[in-house]
This record gives sequence, structure tokens and C-alpha cells, in this order.
Amino acid sequence: MAHYVWIIINALLVAGSALYIWLFRPSDSAAVFAGKWLAQAAILLFWVNVNMYFIFLVIRKAKVRNVKVALARMSRKMMKAHIPLAVAGTGLIVLHGGIMMWKLGAVLGVGHGKMVTGYASLGLLAITLAAGVLRHRKASGFRRKFHLLSAMVFACLFLIHLFWPL
Ligand code: HEM
Ligand code: HEM
Repeated sequence: MAHYVWIIINALLVAGSALYIWLFRPSDSAAVFAGKWLAQAAILLFWVNVNMYFIFLVIRKAKVRNVKVALARMSRKMMKAHIPLAVAGTGLIVLHGGIMMWKLGAVLGVGHGKMVTGYASLGLLAITLAAGVLRHRKASGFRRKFHLLSAMVFACLFLIHLFWPL
């Protein structure tokens, strides 16, 4: 059951974000256009990391041993990419934020909802990265919860930011 929900959420997110960004929100300048590509790529990388939660969840819930083993193998491979994905996504999104502040900061005003949700997402990304580093150094109950919670708040915030109308 959980894995169907998980697959449907993934499909909706990938299709929904691409449709929204490229169909409903045409951009004017080349820099903004590039900035949107950077953000689109970054959220896909972040989303792979967010998926670790669902994979660990399905591993815990699965009743068939083969499914558990196959998913555990897959999760080990994905965890090898976890930190590189986080670092790459952060690089892309810092460029995105920089371009948007430079090109649209004055046009929209720094208090615009799109900008404010952008700064907030960036703040939560920093917290998630720090929490991930702590957890990586030494995992405790608190550190596990802290990284998971910050990752989920980050994901919610960047989804709000993505769909915030201009
Ligand atoms: C300082 C931080 C940020 C600022 C000022 C900012 C600003 C903006 C602005 C103004 C747009 C609209 C561009 C347009 O369509 O013309 C945009 C779009 C977008 N941003 Fe950000 N952003 C920031 C951080 C982030 C972060 C951290 C993420 C994701 C983790 C993100 C993901 C996206 C995505 C996916 C879009 C495409 C949606 C759309 O075109 O409406 N942004 N951002
Ligand atoms: C965009 C940034 C990141 C996101 C969205 C993210 C998300 C996640 C999620 C959802 C989990 C599963 C948590 C659970 O079910 O308990 C996880 C696990 C983990 N993350 Fe991150 N993470 C990010 C960055 C990082 C970074 C930078 C590090 C380390 C330097 C890190 C280290 C870990 C570790 C060690 C685990 C535990 C894996 C295991 O239990 O085998 N994460 N992350």
C-alpha cells in the first residue's frame, strides 16, 4: 500500500513541477530562464534524497523478504549518492537564488511571497545540511529525527515556493 502512494506522489511531483514551470510560467529574460532550469534540476536531486524516507519506510513495512532485500540493496546504492546529490543541488540552488535576487529582487520587491518563500527554503536547506552532517558523524535518536524533520519541512517549503504565483 505505502509503495503505491509513494510512486504516485513521485509521478505527480515530477510531472506537476515540469508542467507548472514550463507551461504556466513562461519567463522573460535569458538569466531567469537559466535560473529556472537550475531550480528544476536541483529540486529533482533533492527529491531523490527525500525519497530515502519512503524507501526506508517501505523496507520496514514490506512483508515479502525478497522485496526487503532488493530495496535494502537499492537504498545502499542511493545512500552512496546522498551527499553528492545534496552538494550538487545546493550549488545549483545557490546560483538560482543569486540569479533571482539579481534579476527579480528589484522587480518583485524583496518582500514578495515568491522571494520570502525562497529565502525560507534556503534557510531550511542549510539546517537540513547541518543536521545531515551531524547525523553522518554520529547518529542518535535526536539527530535522526532532526535530519528527517528538517528535510520534510524543507521539502514542504520548496513546494510552496515552487507553486507560489508571481
Ligand atoms: C534566495 C533564495 C531564493 C529566491 C530569491 C528565489 C526566487 C525565485 C523566483 C523569483 C522564482 C520565479 C522565477 C520565474 O518564474 O520568473 C523562482 C522559481 C523557482 N524556485 Fe526559487 N528562489 C530561491 C530559492 C529556492 C530554493 C531553495 C528552491 C528549491 C529548493 C527553489 C526552487 C524554485 C523552483 C523549482 C522554481 C520554479 C517555479 C516557477 O517558475 O515559478 N528556489 N524562485
Ligand atoms: C538536500 C539535503 C538532504 C535531504 C533532503 C536529505 C534527506 C534525507 C532523508 C529523508 C533521509 C531518511 C531519514 C529517515 O528515514 O530517518 C536521510 C537520511 C540520511 N541522511 Fe540526508 N538529506 C540531505 C542531506 C544530507 C547530508 C548533507 C548528509 C551528510 C553529510 C546526510 C546524511 C544522511 C544520513 C547519514 C542518513 C541516514 C541513512 C541511513 O539511515 O542509512 N543527508 N536524508
